[in-house]
Amino acid sequence: MNNSVALNRKFCVAPMMEWTDRHCRFFHRQLSSQAVLYTEMVTADAILFGDKDRLIGYSPQEHPVAIQLGGSDPKALADAAHICQEFGYKEVNINVGCPSDRVQSGRFGACLMQEPELVATCVKAMKDAVNIPITVKCRIGVDDQEPQDALFKMAHSVFDQGCDSLIVHARKAWLKGLSPKENRDIPPLDYPLVYRLKEALPNQEIIINGGIETAKEGLDHLNYVDGVMLGRTAYHQPFQLIDVDADYYGLHHGYDEKVMLETMHGYINHHIKNGFKAHGVTRHMLGLFHSIGGAKKWRQLLTVKAVDPNSTADILWEAYEHIIQGRKRLQQSLEQRVELHNE
Ligand SMILES: Cc1cc2nc3c(=O)[nH]c(=O)nc-3n(C[C@H](O)[C@H](O)[C@H](O)COP(=O)(O)O)c2cc1C
Repeated sequence: MNNSVALNRKFCVAPMMEWTDRHCRFFHRQLSSQAVLYTEMVTADAILFGDKDRLIGYSPQEHPVAIQLGGSDPKALADAAHICQEFGYKEVNINVGCPSDRVQSGRFGACLMQEPELVATCVKAMKDAVNIPITVKCRIGVDDQEPQDALFKMAHSVFDQGCDSLIVHARKAWLKGLSPKENRDIPPLDYPLVYRLKEALPNQEIIINGGIETAKEGLDHLNYVDGVMLGRTAYHQPFQLIDVDADYYGLHHGYDEKVMLETMHGYINHHIKNGFKAHGVTRHMLGLFHSIGGAKKWRQLLTVKAVDPNSTADILWEAYEHIIQGRKRLQQSLEQRVELHNE
């Protein structure tokens, strides 16, 4: 049944609409060579009928990249998956977790937790159409569903049809009454349920997601499941990705801040030459320097000044200078403290 090459999905950055676009992924790839990066959700119909290059184009340097699709029509998903494979994506993921009204009216996203057989039919149609992994990202249930029943039913149904990996956002979604944002925080997390799922299905890949606050904390979950997926933390504190290659994959990445910034400078230059503003790229880099003197100025320049149509890629160096100065000040104050201590 399973005709795919498995990915090593120990650490993933979650699909996030408006956030994990191609520029964000290019940046994240400079920080970790191994993390699996997910696109924002794209509907199957958009891929079939829309401007494909604009919607799903990306830079090859972003690999390994997985694309997330929204939809529930097996034929449309299979056809869209085929196009994604031709584009070179390493994995196609189906969204069974998004609770927004727009998505519900299209009968996809989290409301599909109530239709595991339909999701399984989609998986089968997609598996038959492509030879890259087909995966599912789901919740532990919606509304009044009993999470253990809903999650296990979903897992058995999709794995029976050859699903290659199940990513579980370990909380329910409320389809009525909570906004998508509230649905990422208010329903309580249930990690043990996901661990029990892995125990029940030891040969299937299970990735845990939801509320993991640091990449280091994510390592603890590897005692129970195959991998972790981080969303908001990875986006807001991208510097955490720098240790992922070593901590999760035992690899030496050889990360060099200056080299990374040179690469991003070149990328922003190219982006501007294509007629866009620096901000389209720099907006994803705001959290790179955290709790360092100069970080506020870094964020300010990369948001306010980078929107200016005349802004060049050098905005990056201008902003970085504040970080260099901040580090110098920190170093000086540490040296002063040592001198005082020795007197
Ligand atoms: C701005 C934003 C957009 C999101 N868009 C998607 C999406 O397109 N598809 C999806 O499956 N989940 C989406 N999510 C949910 C995340 O993938 C993830 O499941 C959720 O944020 C919980 O993980 P975290 O606590 O590590 O952030 C989004 C989350 C955020 C914050």
